[in-house]
Order: sequence, then structure tokens, then C-alpha cells
Amino acid sequence: MSESPTVEVHGPRNAPDPAYPAPPTVDITATGLSSTPVQQAVELARRYGPLYVRRYHGRDSLWASSMELVEELSDETRFAKGVGPALENVRGIAGDGLFTAYDDEPNWAKAHDILLPAFAMNSMRTYHPHMLRVARRLIASWDGRFAPGAARSAPVEVSEDMTRMTLDTIGLAGFGYDFDSFARTDPHPFVEALVRSLGHSQAKLARTPGGDYAAEDAEFAADAAFLAEVVDEVIESRKAAGDTATDDLLGLMLNSPHPGSGEVLDEANIRNQVITFLIAGHETTSGTLSFALHHLLKNPAALHRAQAEVDALWGDTPDPEPSYEDVGRLRYVRQVLNETLRLWPTAPASSAPSPTPCSAGAIR
Ligand code: HEM
Repeated sequence: MSESPTVEVHGPRNAPDPAYPAPPTVDITATGLSSTPVQQAVELARRYGPLYVRRYHGRDSLWASSMELVEELSDETRFAKGVGPALENVRGIAGDGLFTAYDDEPNWAKAHDILLPAFAMNSMRTYHPHMLRVARRLIASWDGRFAPGAARSAPVEVSEDMTRMTLDTIGLAGFGYDFDSFARTDPHPFVEALVRSLGHSQAKLARTPGGDYAAEDAEFAADAAFLAEVVDEVIESRKAAGDTATDDLLGLMLNSPHPGSGEVLDEANIRNQVITFLIAGHETTSGTLSFALHHLLKNPAALHRAQAEVDALWGDTPDPEPSYEDVGRLRYVRQVLNETLRLWPTAPASSAPSPTPCSAGAIR
């Protein structure tokens, strides 16, 4: 951060009990939002404590970061699902999809109930062959670099390949749609539009009031229209095939009525859910895998332990066929992923609607 933010320490605010001091208000308007917002939030927490009010162009948000406070805020009986300013912007592409729906929007509970079976253990088993198929694409692509005559010096773009792998997996497992990303040199145009519109949603947060953002807004609108067009094609091709199975996300949304009301999801909401799952289902996972590989390479002892665990199952088998149960046996690899998520959580923050701060140990 280039400049120090202005800090005001208020007296108790909205807190009837004077024993609870109000958190400091840190005004970052002069500093601006950093291009690494998570690190900026962490840095502010280091300086001003686990609970502070961040003010930006007069807009206040309360930031909680200690384990105790986050646990408290995760209590669903006291705090509703929140759609913060960043997610509010994502509504421009994902509307009332699960991630961006408001807590009281009827489609949230409806879609939640209809889609719940897709996340049960049995469903994971049905996704396994798709995961294996796509993992093989990755291995074939990397092996190809060492085939006779291949340009060995070409670097492997690990995070791009993790994105190819997770996008293809969610496409196939969720919607029976093959993005076939490893057959392309550049990312799929859907991914480019998705990444651009997510970047746009984030950049919108840092806008200066009164600025001219017409060109950015027009690009966002065009990207949103393109995303909707691609998803509509996926939905139409499933419908045209007359497929009424309910063994993936799209099948459940098209063919499974709500267990209580018997209603099905409307078409606009199905489109929003497909876009939501394509965002939520690939970006977080690919980031996690990229960070995991990074940490393994930086920690050879951990890499050797992970490798030994894999070798113990498949040794030198040239083309192993890992079963769904085998994946559960990779306990050390699982710990590597858990530790990666602890060090670099790819969904590092979530929001709850306006709790009232009372103390560093009590929010309401
Ligand atoms: C490493 C991988 C992942 C991480 C770290 C992650 C993290 C999160 C977090 C933190 C939330 C928000 C919880 C809240 O605000 O209360 C969330 C919600 C969600 N995630 Fe993930 N996620 C991951 C993978 C996935 C995958 C693979 C899918 C889909 C196949 C998915 C679909 C969703 C959906 C639909 C929601 C919204 C749920 C709702 O509000 O009903 N996520 N995820």
C-alpha cells in the first residue's frame, strides 16, 4: 500500500454496552483498493486487529478475520447468507444462481433442495469416470512434451492446465458438455468471457464515483450475453436429445421437481445455475490444485511423501485405473490439499449482511 490509510477510532457504535469498544474505522479511500485485495485485507487485520470497519468512498464494511469471529459469523442460525458488493456485481452474469442469490430469494431454497442430491456421496461416484478421463487428458498433454521430437523446452503453464482440467471436469460431470480444453492452445472463449466478466465485477469495486465506465460496462454486457448464449445451447441440446435422466446437475434441474412443492426450476434460473456451477466448480478447484503443486515443488520432503503414497497404490503400472475407493486411500495427498486451502484459500472471504459489532468477541 502506497499511503497509510486514515484511521478513526470511534466510541461505542450501535453498541448499548459501553464495556464493548467499537472496532477502528480504517478509511482506505486515499490508498485505493489494491490489486491483491486479500493481502490488503490481511495486512489491515495485522495492523488494526481482527475486527475493523473498512471505509471506501464512504461505504463501510466490517471485516472479521480471527478464527473465533469467523466461527461466530458462520453460525447460520444467527447470520443469513450475504451477497456482498463483489457478488452483487457477479449477479450481472449469474443472477439468482445459488452463489449470488439473496437469502430470501425463493429460487435459492428451491434450487438448493433440488440440487442437494448432486452433492451426495453416491453422486461423487458417478462423477469419478469423468474426473479420470480429464486427468488422463492432462497426463497425455504433459507426456506429449517429452515424446520423441517434441519441443521439450516449451514451459508447462500449470495454472492454465489446471483450469483446463477443472473446467472440462465440471462441464462433463455437471452438464455432459465437453469443453475439450486440452485440444485448444488458447482458453475456450467461454472461459475468456467468464474471466473477463469476473475481473470486471472485481474492478467495479474500485471505481471512482463520477468516472466514465461506459466501455467497460458494454464489454461486460456483451460477455454476459455470450455466456448466456453458450449455456442456452447446452440446455437446448440436452432437451433436444430427449434425455430425462437425473444423474447430473443439468438432469436434476430439468427433470426433477422440488420434493415439497413439486415445482421445477424456471429456464432463466437453470441458466443462472449452470453459469454459477461453471464459475464455482472450476476456478476455486483449479486454483487449489495450482497452489498445491507450487507448495509441493517448494517442499521436496512433502512431494516425496505424496509420491510414495501414490506409488504404494499403483507402483509402476503404466496406465493405472484408480477406483473411486482408491481416491479415498490417498490420505496424505488429501492433507496436502487441506494444508493448501489453509495457506492459500481460493475462496478466502465470504459475507454476511450487516452484523452489529459489539466487541472483538461478540458480533450481532
Ligand atoms: C477447492 C474448491 C472449492 C472451494 C474452496 C469452495 C468454496 C466455497 C465457499 C467458501 C462458498 C461460500 C460459502 C458461504 O458463503 O457460505 C462456496 C459456495 C458454493 N460452491 Fe464452492 N468451493 C469449491 C468447489 C466447488 C465446486 C467443485 C462446486 C460445484 C461443483 C462448488 C459450488 C458451489 C456453489 C453452488 C456454492 C453456493 C452454495 C449456496 O449458497 O447454496 N464449489 N464454495
